[in-house]
Amino acid sequence: PAPHRIQDRNIVDTEAVEAQLAALADGTADFSNTPDTDPDLPGNRAWGRAIVNKMEASTLGKEAVAKALIRTEDELNEIVETGVAASASWQGMGAAARAAILHRAGAALETHRADLLEVMGSECGKTLDQGDPEVSEAIDFAHYYAQRGLDLETTDGATFVPSKLTVVTPPWNFPVAIPAGSTLSALASGSSVIIKPAGQAARSGAVMVEALWEAGVPRDVLQLVQLSERSLGTAMVSHPSVDRLILTGGYETAQLFRSFRKDLPLLAETSGKNALIVTPHADLDLAAKDVAASAFGHAGQKCSAASLVILVGTAAESKRFHNQLIDDIRSLKVGYPSDPQTQMGPVIEEAQGKLLRGLTTLGEGEKWVLEPKQLDESGKLWSPGVRSGVKRGSEYHLTEYFGPILGVMTAETLEEAVAIVNDIDYGLTSGLHSLDSEEMGYWLENIQAGNLYINRGITGAIVQRQPFGGWKKSAIGAGTKAGGPNYLVGMGTWEDAPVAT
Ligand code: SER
Repeated sequence: PAPHRIQDRNIVDTEAVEAQLAALADGTADFSNTPDTDPDLPGNRAWGRAIVNKMEASTLGKEAVAKALIRTEDELNEIVETGVAASASWQGMGAAARAAILHRAGAALETHRADLLEVMGSECGKTLDQGDPEVSEAIDFAHYYAQRGLDLETTDGATFVPSKLTVVTPPWNFPVAIPAGSTLSALASGSSVIIKPAGQAARSGAVMVEALWEAGVPRDVLQLVQLSERSLGTAMVSHPSVDRLILTGGYETAQLFRSFRKDLPLLAETSGKNALIVTPHADLDLAAKDVAASAFGHAGQKCSAASLVILVGTAAESKRFHNQLIDDIRSLKVGYPSDPQTQMGPVIEEAQGKLLRGLTTLGEGEKWVLEPKQLDESGKLWSPGVRSGVKRGSEYHLTEYFGPILGVMTAETLEEAVAIVNDIDYGLTSGLHSLDSEEMGYWLENIQAGNLYINRGITGAIVQRQPFGGWKKSAIGAGTKAGGPNYLVGMGTWEDAPVAT
């Protein structure tokens, strides 16, 4: 069922919240996805405008980040010891008591929705429309993993022994949902957590962690750090007392982490180079809209983003599709999230290296349909780019750019389009737009990616409905999809139950 609409985010029914928490905790309420904010409702419009107005001068999270700074190996060892010691009582309290706290954490994240949106916009350039579903996802993780934690205790014939201490190193592009999801999964399994948010998203991570503390997660069970030097990062992710690592980041980072301590269990969600295939049997208007949103939401800075659209057969000649797509993209208002008109925000830092190359240079046979333009001195604000004529095997075909660029490829047949996708080393998300069931069947059987979407955009996986995770070079840690039923199972070890005598 569609979640109910919140008429006005300023109005909070505390009694209803408490009743819902009680029902979740005693098992009479099932998990359901948290509703996003409908910005067209007048109350919510005023609520959103107030957040946007605060973004530029926002200082949220600064103090917590300053307090979290670790400067020496001794300080690092101390927090590791604290985390390990705290795990005994956290494990010992049992899944039901932990679940009650984690449900409260979900409610606390909801209470702080406006703060989280303010800090994400201020620090990471996230627009409200991108940030709002992200907060909902974080809340969903809290309630969902709280319940999945209970399953671990009721498994027949085997005892689950959680990790004592999990280190969480999330990225900056989903500065609330990914840190929250990783942290909450480990907490629900019974592990203590040290979280080190990405430097570019330190304040957003801190505001999220403060909400969890406020909800009753003990401060020694969940510790927030920032590190004064890179060497401390290496020391942290290779520390002998850490027994699990949850990383979301680049493939190379995952390989590096793995090289430090090969025996350390690592759950890593890494890079993607994702494509949407559009066939002549597609609803072309819907396809155009979904391609534009998947490619340019958060300026393309999602591991799930569409970087390629592959047009099959006569779809490549459809003027209607072409015009819809280009109009959708050209009309995106690019700016900073503190401007309420903004629809596409900046990239996280001055474009350089691979991203700059993707924004400014063409491969052989390629041409700009829309050439990206640098819009201000910062090097962060770029208009969206679309290139056509991308050749199979070219640099653009195979490289992840993580920015506002889309490449158009063509294929004679669906089989060829699928082969073009499968050439790519990564396999995170993939999409098909077609209303033909045979095409759907073929694509589902043959496409190599973790998250498959038909007639929908390819970003924005929903907790429980679309467990999220890739294969090939997009993931390490088999069968462990975030927001899915099996994610917690990999957070510890299993021992056979003692035989009754
Ligand atoms: N879960 C996000 C999405 O589906 C990416 O991390 O877009």
